[in-house]
Amino acid sequence: MPASGYLFTRMAVCAMLLIAATAAAQQPTSLKQAYQGDFYVGAALNEAEITGQDQHSDAIVLQQFNSISPEDALKWAIINPEPGVFNFSLGDQYVAFGVQHHMWIVGHNLVWHNQVPAWVFRDENGKLLTRDALLARMKQHIFLEVERYRGKIQSWDVVNEALNEDGTLRQSLWYKIIGPDYIARAFEYAHEADPQAQLTYNDYNLANPAKLAGVIRLVKQLKAQGVPIDCVGMQDHDHLGSPTPEQEDTAIRSIAATGVKVAISELDINVLPWPGTGNTAEVSMHMAANPKLNPWPNGLPKDIQQKLMDQYAALFRVFYRDRADISRVTFWGVTNAQSWLNNWPIPGRTNYPLLFDRAGEPTPAYGAVLNVPGNAAK
Ligand code: XIL
Repeated sequence: MPASGYLFTRMAVCAMLLIAATAAAQQPTSLKQAYQGDFYVGAALNEAEITGQDQHSDAIVLQQFNSISPEDALKWAIINPEPGVFNFSLGDQYVAFGVQHHMWIVGHNLVWHNQVPAWVFRDENGKLLTRDALLARMKQHIFLEVERYRGKIQSWDVVNEALNEDGTLRQSLWYKIIGPDYIARAFEYAHEADPQAQLTYNDYNLANPAKLAGVIRLVKQLKAQGVPIDCVGMQDHDHLGSPTPEQEDTAIRSIAATGVKVAISELDINVLPWPGTGNTAEVSMHMAANPKLNPWPNGLPKDIQQKLMDQYAALFRVFYRDRADISRVTFWGVTNAQSWLNNWPIPGRTNYPLLFDRAGEPTPAYGAVLNVPGNAAK
């Protein structure tokens, strides 16, 4: 072979190898890699995952995610169930797990109307507290958690679910005893306790236009008063077909237009029959078990699987397009086996809301989500 022909063949082989290597490098092998530089991808951890009893799920967490949320470990009812009784053991293990694995660690949550013990609102004689006394108790609790994990928990859900579906403020005991400014005070205390932490207002069904208008009003008011709010968490406990990608996009963009980041904070898609109306995630809602409302105990039919995959892909196309406004996308759980939606609002159902199946294997929807950024680049 003439020297020039030999050289040409070598160059062609090198070019082919390079193209193959680039293609391989472009194919992401994890969610965190697929959205690297766009937003964190997180999962909520339950007790077994935090304590290392569920090694199988922990392996998925380490391979796929770069952010974690605590499903329950930092809620008031766990941290401080009785006056003077404190349980930090699970919270400390949760934070240690995140620090060890260099995760973006989320604190969930500080002020909420659920999973808060009844004693919090009452004095030793059982009488409802005064405004000042409840404000003092709220401040103490916020400092207790936020100072303990200062510099480790990067983002706190300061107030959870303060809005009604019509966009007005929920008449919780926080609201009734302190007044509407309990929200502003909670953010100020959290900021005082850790000036570096990202502070989030978190709620469900924010794609509902009336509630969306309410959250926008709230954020604008808080910002006008100089309250340190950095982010709005859209929980996104979604249903098949709802919200639409367009509604999701509108919500993300109009929230971000107020000057805060958006976190998709508790994503899952409920595929089972829904006994209520609207996309509520009110955890106090309970209904009796009924086999008709648990249609797929032995596996998801192909057509539903397809719908779930299409909806996940469409949602992530929106998230990817709006990535400049989004700080993280967190799934509310790791595998379908341990999703809270197997037991809420009806106990003992078999649900399929996440990207990993009961055996911890990736579902078709996982593949679709993984490929969104690559497909957008084509
Ligand atoms: C859920 C947890 O996943 C369950 O383990 C618990 O029994 C009830 O709360 N919105 C929230 C979360 O902000 O804290 C809720 O988490 C789901 C709805």
